[in-house]
Amino acid sequence: MAQESIKQEIRRLAKERNALLLAHNYQRDEIQEIADLTGDSLGLSIEAAGTDRQVIVFCGVHFMAESAAILAPDKLVLLPRPDAGCPMADMVTPDGLRQMKARHPGVPVVTYVNSSAAVKAESDICCTSANAVRVVNSLPAAEVLLVPDRNLGKYIAERTDKICHLWDGYCPTHERLPVAEVQRAMQDHPDALFMAHPECPPEILALAHHICSTSGMYDYAQSSPARKFIVGTEAGILWRLRRDNPEKEFILPSSRLICPNMKLTSLEDVLHSLQTMSPQITVPADVRERARATLERMLAVPRD
Ligand code: 13P
Ligand code: SF4
Repeated sequence: MAQESIKQEIRRLAKERNALLLAHNYQRDEIQEIADLTGDSLGLSIEAAGTDRQVIVFCGVHFMAESAAILAPDKLVLLPRPDAGCPMADMVTPDGLRQMKARHPGVPVVTYVNSSAAVKAESDICCTSANAVRVVNSLPAAEVLLVPDRNLGKYIAERTDKICHLWDGYCPTHERLPVAEVQRAMQDHPDALFMAHPECPPEILALAHHICSTSGMYDYAQSSPARKFIVGTEAGILWRLRRDNPEKEFILPSSRLICPNMKLTSLEDVLHSLQTMSPQITVPADVRERARATLERMLAVPRD
């Protein structure tokens, strides 16, 4: 079937099934194009919880569909590619986290949303790349455990007075961005601002004019008077940045900024998912309730 016909059939079936199509900012261009909403990990899960549609098709990776299933337990959540995982989320297991907690009794665990439901269930509060410092500073404790991203952890540790104990995980996609390639892009485009995701290693963040989540990048690009931006995150973000800011230029400093898991989902997968209403993502009730409490504690933290 030609791409245009697949897109039309997806839209027709989505309507028939009363389904909401969600796409993360790192998805392939054509997936973002057919989605009802494109956004960051947590933002999309909140949309899933708030919609009156009964079916959620989550074009992203496994932990995101799980978050939607946790926040919207009454909905049917489909992940077109169940093999689309997140290597960073897989770097921490509930058992490993329990061992870390045993080494630091009573110290609260702040877990990045890029984690499994089972790890969230073992944690005290969640955070995203957009609210991490605010969440950590909202806690009455003097020490915190930050899981699983060591880069986000170091970024937080530099912005809080609390003693931070970091899990040694990382995002392989952001980790492989070479400093030299960012420096070369900055030399080639001295008038450009460099925005970087906090999952980047500290040497990269040290070069950034602005450090923010994927949604933060859209806000920054739109509100800044600058006309050129070097983008330190996964390549998929360029599609909407360019579509919504046609007068501005966005430069990817490296061809390595591709998350293979985020690129797995194809139009054919989305169509197949809607045709078969599978694969469905569910979270066992006991894990779901504890993970939900961890997410809800984060959502209750007041905004600045
Ligand atoms: P955000 O979209 O929440 O910034 O997350 C980035 C990411 O790596 C998602 O996998
Ligand atoms: Fe995981 Fe990194 Fe891919 Fe996001 S970009 S899904 S954190 S591996």
